[in-house]
Amino acid sequence: ESTLAAAAAQSGRYFGTAIASGKLGDGNYTNIANREFNMITAENEMKIDATEPNQGQFNFTNADRIYNWATQNGKQVRGHTLAWHSQQPGWMQSLSGSALRQAMINHINGVMAHYKGKIPYWDVVNEAYDDNNGGRRDSNLQRTGNDWIEVAFRTARAADPSAKLCYNDYNIDNWTWAKTQGVYNMVRDFKSRGVPIDCVGLQSHFNGQSPYNSNYRTTISQFAALGVDVAITELDIQGGSAQTYANVVNDCLAVPRCIGITVWGVRDSDSWLGANTSPLLFDSNGNKKAAYNSVLNALNSA
Ligand code: G3I
Repeated sequence: ESTLAAAAAQSGRYFGTAIASGKLGDGNYTNIANREFNMITAENEMKIDATEPNQGQFNFTNADRIYNWATQNGKQVRGHTLAWHSQQPGWMQSLSGSALRQAMINHINGVMAHYKGKIPYWDVVNEAYDDNNGGRRDSNLQRTGNDWIEVAFRTARAADPSAKLCYNDYNIDNWTWAKTQGVYNMVRDFKSRGVPIDCVGLQSHFNGQSPYNSNYRTTISQFAALGVDVAITELDIQGGSAQTYANVVNDCLAVPRCIGITVWGVRDSDSWLGANTSPLLFDSNGNKKAAYNSVLNALNSA
């Protein structure tokens, strides 16, 4: 196969990217995105500050731009993200306690109602674990009580029973790290107690501080063994190593419940990391890089 989406589909997987609504008028960008990818994540437009800028007043203008572009071009959409300590609108940042807890619930209900039956995977909770100690990240949401994550998942299940509900985080790629073990233990606990969770998103932002490690395949298979799907949700590799990209793809292909891969942007110039780190599969002019060929070959050899 000659595109990432078609090559991934040979094994029943998808290949996705993050899309920014402000770039949908850029023909070079949309041509590549439409040709190569079949799963779309809104880079910012479905986040809390974008969808509920004033409390109780939802705005889906830019989110729907991405949703409509994706579905009109035959693609699916991953929802990102419903409960997060970051990118909260000002009104939410100033809430605490039961008012914040209720605002979180209302937000999940409001966004999921708008997309009910239309979004196959939602990142319900994003980045709730501490970077170092394996425990919860301190945040206004965490201070509403340790049960906020399971409340978010139960709320999401009731709001749209057709959506698969994911926990998504970064630096949970390396199996030996405390953060990975913290999230693993949470998922195991949720599964044992019947808290609804269907998938784990490994963001997979690889760089010098958190490089790809060959135990990544172990991480994927250990999460999968808990009875959840695993998705690689925000892949980028600083420096753009073609070999590392191939390793990531091969690790996903080795685990049946690794359902798909999303790279966090189209061209290097679209990356949140800046084009100079060369983290993506297309250069800033939209040309295929060595990393692109490496990913395509890995998908085609599965
Ligand atoms: O849209 C405004 C623009 O009007 C304003 O002039 C400009 C000035 O700073 O800011 C623009 O908003 C920025 C937005 O990206 C759109 O470009 C925000 O400041 C900036 O904070 C925001 O960054 C995003 C970041 O999440 C915020 O947390 C990145 O684009 C996005 O790639 C990044 O994505 C996250 C995932 O959601 C979660 N995992 C980590 C990943 C990378 O940080």
